[in-house]
Amino acid sequence: MDSSPAAWSLTDSFLADTLVGPDAPLEAALAAQRAAGLPAIEVAPVAGKLLNLLVRISGARRVLEIGTLGGYSTIWLARAVGPEGRVVTVEAESDNAMLARASIDAAGVGDRVDIRIGRGAEVLPTLVGGFDLVFIDADKESNTIYLDWAAKLGHPGTVIVLDNIGRDGEIVRDDTADSKVIGTREGLRMLGEDPRFDATALQTVGAKGWDGFAIAVVV
Ligand code: DHB
Ligand code: MG
Repeated sequence: MDSSPAAWSLTDSFLADTLVGPDAPLEAALAAQRAAGLPAIEVAPVAGKLLNLLVRISGARRVLEIGTLGGYSTIWLARAVGPEGRVVTVEAESDNAMLARASIDAAGVGDRVDIRIGRGAEVLPTLVGGFDLVFIDADKESNTIYLDWAAKLGHPGTVIVLDNIGRDGEIVRDDTADSKVIGTREGLRMLGEDPRFDATALQTVGAKGWDGFAIAVVV
């Protein structure tokens, strides 16, 4: 098959059907956020499953998510921490937070999830640290601020996942005027240069086009 966004999407659907399968609470969360008119920028099912597996592989019990949107990735994370685990998720838009609250509760993991409403730069300094895994998926312009807080609120061994590092390959353009691409590049540079992190990144193609994620550990 020729490489094209349609082919990537078809292949992603096959992988999701084969490895993730039907999931009524997650599908309901997606339907709710589509009905509310939220942008379709939540993680793809295979990526949600990856987050879930990373939490379980690392044994993380305290998870921080920056950027709740409609709670789709939050549900994946909350399932993985187990009944004694906790997810703190930060969302700037109170309407999104209310929608997420309903979907997370309906998925049966509401007692594990604490939604904090406000911009990351205001909410993050108020949190108590000790997070074992941090998922950063919010405004790309603030990636370096979020990475700094992830290190401060984590500990040696904390896993950091940063979404959207590919952006259609635009990250190689150092003449870009796109603030999201600039924020993404600055986040990647920080992961490479800041001695608090050891990191890599993978490009992906799939339902969300050409993008990718970085994975880091706090040294
Ligand atoms: C955008 C944000 C995301 O978190 C994502 O996964 C895809 C796109 C965006 O703001 O363009
Ligand atoms: Mg994202």
